[in-house]
This record gives sequence, structure tokens and C-alpha cells, in this order.
Amino acid sequence: MRLVLVGPPGAGKGTQAQFVASNLSIPKISTGDIFRANVSGGTELGKLAKEYMDRGDLVPDEVTIAMVRDRLSESDAQDGFLLDGFPRNVPQAEILKKMLAEFGVGLDLVLELVVDDEEVVRRLAGRRTCSQCGRIWHVDFDDKKDDVCDACNGRLYQRDDDKEQTVRHRLEVYQEQTAPLVSFYADEGILVGVDATGPVEEVTQRAMEALSPFA
Ligand code: AP5
Ligand code: ZN
Repeated sequence: MRLVLVGPPGAGKGTQAQFVASNLSIPKISTGDIFRANVSGGTELGKLAKEYMDRGDLVPDEVTIAMVRDRLSESDAQDGFLLDGFPRNVPQAEILKKMLAEFGVGLDLVLELVVDDEEVVRRLAGRRTCSQCGRIWHVDFDDKKDDVCDACNGRLYQRDDDKEQTVRHRLEVYQEQTAPLVSFYADEGILVGVDATGPVEEVTQRAMEALSPFA
């Protein structure tokens, strides 16, 4: 299955991607995660991306698209994938469509995680990410009293772009550049909206139900 997750920052894309991809035995491909790995590895790509990410702006399309093209060409992505954070604007969506057509395939479904701005700010303020396994936690909802990952004992950190002002800018960027993807994919007939409020497991269940006719 070839899936895309779309939704505002903090909607729970990364959280749901880890469970949905594992349930479907497909790789989760997160452009945000790939950029962050490059930033912490000090690569040229990381240095370039950091400047945009710290401001909450999108990394330029040519850089992002080349990176996704490389990742989708890897062997584990040939039979399916879940994209988290890509595409992020209509030009990226158009290029993805062409890229997949070159491989002779297409997207099966786009899941839109629907949640309001207030909940997003609350979720991002308490987000912590594992520096070792990448698992996402929340200080309140997961009752995290220390900064140790329960899954792998790695250290948890707070993302630089989760400062309130940067979060607000990321929400503006989402409304201006990413929200138009919802009607783009609705026109293609492959968009399904999922209510992303409530406990994580309930959202996963709703996502899996939305996917079941296509699995
Ligand atoms: P990216 O990493 O993609 O960030 P984002 O889209 O802003 O999304 P987030 O990761 O902030 O949120 P999420 O929806 O994954 O929520 P999460 O599951 O963590 O991108 C970062 C930057 O990289 C961009 O700003 C840009 O610069 C660049 N970039 C990336 N892709 C790009 C592209 N295609 N083109 C150009 N630039 C690109 O959940 C948030 C918190 O809420 C967590 O703490 C979690 O535990 C908690 N939570 C989740 N679900 C629930 C629930 N149901 N109830 C309670 N808490 C919950
Ligand atoms: Zn971990």
C-alpha cells in the first residue's frame, strides 16, 4: 500500500505513522526525520535544512524532492510506503505523482489527520523525541517524568522548532502551503479525513478502519 499522511504540525502524523506503518509492514518515510538525522549528523544537507527548519519554513522543493526520490528508489519502498511530511505543497504533490508514474505505480490513499490549532500548540509544547530510536512521547499524555525513552532507554530531547513562536509560524505555513493539498487529493478521489482527537490508540484504530477497504 502507498500512503500519505497529511495534517498540521502536531496533528500526530509521526505518532500515527509509526503504528500504521508497522501494522501494514511498510516503511515509514518521514522527511522531517530525514532532515533531523542530517542536522545531527552535520551533513551539508543538514546545514542547509537547519536554517529553514529553525524558522519553521519549508526547505526548498528541489532539495526535498531529490531526497525523497532517492529514498523511494530504495528496495524496501518498492512494495509500499507511508509518507509522513511529504508532499507539503501542491508542486511537491505533482512531482510525487509523476515520480510514481515513472515507477508504474500511484498513491492508494491520503489520510488527513484533523485537529484544531489549540490542541496542536498543547501537543507540541509537551512533545519529546527519543534521540536513539526516534519514538515520540508527550510529557503529560504519556506521563513522562524523566527524559529517558521507555522503549530503548535513549535520551529524550525537545525539538528546536517547538518553541511557541515557531509553532505559530509553522501553522501559518501549513495553512498557506500545505492545506491546499487537501482539495488536491480530494479532487483525485483518494482523500480520507480521520478525526485525530482523543487517545492515540483510538486515532490509530480510526486510521486502520479508514484504510481497511484498501488493504
Ligand atoms: P516535520 O517533522 O514533518 O514536522 P511537522 O509536519 O510540523 O509535524 P510534527 O512532526 O511537528 O508533528 P506530527 O504531526 O508528526 O505530530 P507528532 O506525532 O510528533 O517537519 C519539520 C520541518 O522539516 C518543517 O518545518 C520543514 O522545515 C522541514 N520539512 C519536512 N518535510 C518537508 C517537506 N516535504 N518540504 C519542505 N520542508 C520540509 O505529535 C505531536 C505531540 O503530540 C507528541 O508529543 C505526541 O506524543 C502527542 N500526540 C500525538 N497524538 C496524540 C493524541 N492522540 N493525544 C495526545 N497527544 C498526542
Ligand atoms: Zn527510544
